[in-house]
Amino acid sequence: MTFETNKDVLDWFEKQPRALTDEFIDQIPWNEVRNYRFDERLVPVLMYMRDIEILTDMYHQELLRTPTGKDPIISKFMERWGVEEITHGELLNRFLNEAGFETSDEWKEEITGSVSRYYHLYARMLTSFTNCVGKSFTATHMAYGTINELSAAQSYRRLIQLADHPVLTTILKGIIREESVHTHFYLSVARLELRNNNFAQKIARFVIEKFWNPVGSGARPEDLTNYTIATLFGDTEGLEWIDRLVTRRVQDLPGFDGVTKITDRIAQIGHETNVREFGLADA
Ligand SMILES: [Fe+2]
Ligand SMILES: [Fe+2]
Repeated sequence: MTFETNKDVLDWFEKQPRALTDEFIDQIPWNEVRNYRFDERLVPVLMYMRDIEILTDMYHQELLRTPTGKDPIISKFMERWGVEEITHGELLNRFLNEAGFETSDEWKEEITGSVSRYYHLYARMLTSFTNCVGKSFTATHMAYGTINELSAAQSYRRLIQLADHPVLTTILKGIIREESVHTHFYLSVARLELRNNNFAQKIARFVIEKFWNPVGSGARPEDLTNYTIATLFGDTEGLEWIDRLVTRRVQDLPGFDGVTKITDRIAQIGHETNVREFGLADA
């Protein structure tokens, strides 16, 4: 589907029903979670995914201070996007508890409270920079969002395969459907914002080639980020997924021809991380 304006993209988005309705969540066989084994090496991975879903609210608040967040079409999308990502985090947290890995009652506050002051300072600096660039930076935000949504969906697909847990599969498939809708929004708006705008293309490419890191980097402990990436994408097959389903789709964006940053960075993390060091892998 091709769109001519951001408004067309928003109209399309608003016609998409939610996958994770109350009925969908109610019919998840929660009482069967313990009937299947859940590999405890994947607990930190699931926690990391849960955390970044919950931290979406923090990113959302940061974006609201930039021209991107003040754009009436994008902010309309972000309102619903923020709500959906929180549902994802809540479902993953519930799964962990049902599987016997109890989390505290204040888990959400603990995640947001654990983000370092350094990160907040860095985020504020970035916001100021963004405001200097102005409206043309929206393309960068949208390209960043595209990468994050694409890689979140691939992380869940990989998790389905690695965990091989029927109830988790049902939950993750529902989440993936919503991530795909998010991807389509970001990708379509990124394309429109980059099209015919050389300056926007140059900035977006520069920022991603220089600064892109997996979502959650800086906001979560580095060893947890690296463990998650290495567990999901550290082998040849995982890296091939990233290259085919994230990198190559991003290369199709105007001005992104030949950008290999995502594959390169993931490969580097996989190469440098010993998953046994996290203390949960089998000897
Ligand atoms: Fe999500
Ligand atoms: Fe998403």
